[in-house]
Amino acid sequence: MVKKILIAYSSYFGNCKKAASTLAASCDEEGMETSLYPILESETLPEKPDILVLVTPVRVRKIVGPSKKFLRKIGEKDLRYALVVSHGAALDHFFSPVPATKKLERHLERKEMVRITEPLFLQVERQQGPLSKGYEKRLADLAKQLSQAVSEEDR
Ligand SMILES: Cc1cc2nc3c(=O)[nH]c(=O)nc-3n(C[C@H](O)[C@H](O)[C@H](O)COP(=O)(O)O)c2cc1C
Repeated sequence: MVKKILIAYSSYFGNCKKAASTLAASCDEEGMETSLYPILESETLPEKPDILVLVTPVRVRKIVGPSKKFLRKIGEKDLRYALVVSHGAALDHFFSPVPATKKLERHLERKEMVRITEPLFLQVERQQGPLSKGYEKRLADLAKQLSQAVSEEDR
């Protein structure tokens, strides 16, 4: 059975949107069936996927509210997920996205959701972007990991 991968994103300046569509294109190349879901523009919830990828910015040291609210609604036990987090600050800076991402992961673990990859951190050059060089390759690598996770599940 084909596994459905939902790539949900929140995006204010377009960087997460771009990352989400780049990832979807890479997933297509890997032969996976993906759909894109714009959290900020959607009023109805999507169908439950087999794998959820959340692409979200960090703002003021927090994962943005709409992304967390979306997870509260769609998240459930055993749902497999991956996170892509866009950020401006360096990973060892006071405004680092790492603590907020870890906090979210702990929350999802309590919900008994299953993380399938390490979170992918994508830096933007300035507050409004663009995404730092090399993001396409990093997303293509993530697509490969997702493809592996899907085929392991099918075995
Ligand atoms: C009000 C505001 C607060 C922000 N706070 C942080 C922060 O605490 N840490 C960080 O790394 N980046 C921060 N950023 C940068 C955002 O992460 C960046 O704008 C975002 O990743 C761009 O993604 P988007 O175009 O999809 O919205 C902030 C940006 C704004 C506008």
